[in-house]
Amino acid sequence: MANYNAYDGPHRDLRELLERAEAADELLRVDGVEWNLEMGTLTELIHHAGPNPPAILFDKVPGYPEGFRVVSGAGNSSKRLALTLGFPVPRTPMDVVRAYRDRMKTHAPISPETVDDGPVLQNVDRDDEVDLLKFPVPFLHERDGGRYIGTDDLVIMHDPEDDWVNVGTYRSMLHDRRTVGLWMSPGKQGRQIREKYFREGKPCPVLISCGHDPLLSLGGGNEVRFGLSEFAWAGGHRGRPVRTIRSERYGLPMPADSEIVLEGAMHPGDTKAEGPFGEFTGYYASEVSDEPVVRVERVYYRNDPILTMASPMRPPSDFSFSKCVMKSGMIWDEIEHAGLNDVQGVWCHEAGAARLFNVVSIRQAYGGHARQAALLAASCQSGSYLGRYVVVVDEDIDPTDLFEVLWAISTRSNPVDDIEILRQTWSGPLDPMLRPGERMNSRAIIDACRPFEWRDEFAPVARASPELRDEVREKYRAVLSRFEA
Ligand SMILES: Cc1cc2nc3c(=O)[nH]c(=O)nc-3n(C[C@H](O)[C@H](O)[C@H](O)COP(=O)(O)O)c2cc1C
Repeated sequence: MANYNAYDGPHRDLRELLERAEAADELLRVDGVEWNLEMGTLTELIHHAGPNPPAILFDKVPGYPEGFRVVSGAGNSSKRLALTLGFPVPRTPMDVVRAYRDRMKTHAPISPETVDDGPVLQNVDRDDEVDLLKFPVPFLHERDGGRYIGTDDLVIMHDPEDDWVNVGTYRSMLHDRRTVGLWMSPGKQGRQIREKYFREGKPCPVLISCGHDPLLSLGGGNEVRFGLSEFAWAGGHRGRPVRTIRSERYGLPMPADSEIVLEGAMHPGDTKAEGPFGEFTGYYASEVSDEPVVRVERVYYRNDPILTMASPMRPPSDFSFSKCVMKSGMIWDEIEHAGLNDVQGVWCHEAGAARLFNVVSIRQAYGGHARQAALLAASCQSGSYLGRYVVVVDEDIDPTDLFEVLWAISTRSNPVDDIEILRQTWSGPLDPMLRPGERMNSRAIIDACRPFEWRDEFAPVARASPELRDEVREKYRAVLSRFEA
């Protein structure tokens, strides 16, 4: 793999990041794939075939000009995440989680810089010129209600009361050449902002970036605290401001290096049927519902634009690994900022769609430490939405290893004492266990640590000591070479 530490500073945009990924043998180019079901299904096959799938760059999409491309999974591996965030080459996924948590100890947001020009202005379609079908928008899964132009998108909105700009990833379905529907789950910050406009009877202006630096996707697709713009969060990671341009119609900030940005407004009462859509939990969970639509008035795009795509599916998907690593790092950071000490690791398993089965490992320092860790992980901003299980394990258990975690649950928890249920917790229509109309679920926290009060008397683990293992390994190196890496 190329040594990308040799590159000079943060990448400029998606294109430069893809070049670096390709140099690191992390990019697959495929030509001639149909937008209708083939892109989604090929992505699924590649992601279900084995570990470490590459980013996939689709070009020469039938019916579209060469150069009008779609990329899937741009940041979805340890190495691509490290490239995106500017971390050293990781040996293991936990290295990325730890690097994120370490970064956040000194991370300071950097506000975006407003500039007058940038590649996104290379083409501007106005009003009647707007035609979203000029882009190779994928139809991802057989039962979907339509083509989705925004899956790995950034929905950019200004809070009219608190004067800040939120950036969130919310799916956007193509209704027709000039209209898209936005699906924002109850409680999401973008939805709260939209409600502020609608309560006043006002239209809600919005930008939707449909191709951009994966660093912005990491902010948009994860829960950054209310009031902190994801642009400033991303600037803090790059060590330099995100460059934004004021949009023509509503003066909203659009990333100057984005590939495609739509501008328009949602109007109170103006809705269309949205969905269904195969979702990240692995189900078509939510029903078709009437959702506000964006009437698109401008489309800004680069020459040879690249649409960024995230295809949700039964995990793993083309973004579930990145979600897992980011959630793990963000939860670790948040629970430490809440004052918790001796956290050894956090892992939000992809099998739980990186939200539903999260494991925290701690070195127990006092009675109640494990419950505190569990409660914080279950209710901090990054760990709250659509959670289900939080398991806390001792430091000798690798939280990324489901076998070890299940062994700890099986042998170090007594269900009557060690499982607590939280009720009325934040979920939403994508939770396959909710009936239509329900918005809240419950959560189990499982304390799978040795009981603190008698941990010193707890049965010793039946395993050779490290010294004995080393001694025998040395002596039988030839025999073991067949079994150990
Ligand atoms: C690829 C991807 C797609 C997502 N799609 C949606 C969606 O359609 N609707 C939604 O409410 N949340 C969706 N999310 C989750 C939100 O982006 C996430 O909760 C984010 O924190 C929302 O922004 P906010 O914190 O500003 O509300 C998605 C996340 C990712 C990574």
